[in-house]
Amino acid sequence: MVREKSANSIATLRSVRDAIVWAEKLLAGVDVYFGHGTDNALDEAAWLVSAAIAVPPAELAKHHRRPIAAAARARLKELVEQRIATRKPAAYLLNEAWFAGLRFYVDERVIVPRSLTGEFIRQGFTPWVDATRVRKILDLCTGSGCMAIACAVAFPSAQVDAADISNDALAVARINVDTHGLGDRVRLLQSDLFSNLAGNRYDVIITNPPYVGRAEMKTLPQEYRHEPKLALESGASGLDAITRILRDGADHLEPDGVLIAEVGHSNEALQEKFPDMPFRWLTTRHGDDSVFLLTAKQLREKPARARKR
Ligand SMILES: C[S@@+](CC[C@H](N)C(=O)[O-])C[C@H]1O[C@@H](n2cnc3c(N)ncnc32)[C@H](O)[C@@H]1O
Repeated sequence: MVREKSANSIATLRSVRDAIVWAEKLLAGVDVYFGHGTDNALDEAAWLVSAAIAVPPAELAKHHRRPIAAAARARLKELVEQRIATRKPAAYLLNEAWFAGLRFYVDERVIVPRSLTGEFIRQGFTPWVDATRVRKILDLCTGSGCMAIACAVAFPSAQVDAADISNDALAVARINVDTHGLGDRVRLLQSDLFSNLAGNRYDVIITNPPYVGRAEMKTLPQEYRHEPKLALESGASGLDAITRILRDGADHLEPDGVLIAEVGHSNEALQEKFPDMPFRWLTTRHGDDSVFLLTAKQLREKPARARKR
């Protein structure tokens, strides 16, 4: 329960701005982890307030001076209490996530969209890709379908395949593809990485595969335990999925194609495992070491040979 003093004070909140400040104070003062759509208490508070008053988070600033109705205050209090008590990411409490400026339905069958690759999708992969030549894109390990759908929006002439091993995830992706009206351009496929994609070649393959190692899994904050383990863990080292993607990727790329992959904190282990692979690490707002690009040519010329131990 939200502490008595704060719970009482919610009744006295006048404006939407007051509500944001109230929620931020509560969220900042407890053991809650931010990293599933926001990375700080203020943004998380704003997101919950936007849901309570039913406006998109990007438009919230326009409503700061608006009075906040009793029903919205009650909803906000309930959301903040649930967020603190259950440690569920806000995205699951709200069944919504925002990615590349788009809204997605999410629930606990998929991880909360947050891939840094979204930055590059919105830029049409400039300057590494000639957008006018992109006809086919693959989003491998699609989860909610967020990256596939963002690609379909950024490349209006492209066909996008979105593959995942999990039928649960694909059911969520189906909801999102239909909501965004992209059923004619985004094809959902059940596949263990490339296994059901024989004969398909793409101009761009993007992937945010599972990449957490077994030991690191145990250290993750409570919020991650609400996400599917299948979406996070990838063998003892975290490198099982990306190793297979490096091995088979060239067979699924057009001659001028590129692979863009996120590997998070496993970057150093990956570099160490494949010392000859010329990974080009792309700069994101969080630094320049978790998303890499390789061309089809590089993948063909430098087969993914792991360092011998
Ligand atoms: C880190 S999540 C990424 C989801 C989505 N692309 C995103 O960024 O929000 C990884 C996804 O890979 C899927 N996955 C795990 N192992 C897989 C495999 N062997 N083949 C295909 N998909 C797999 C999981 O079901 C999960 O949806």
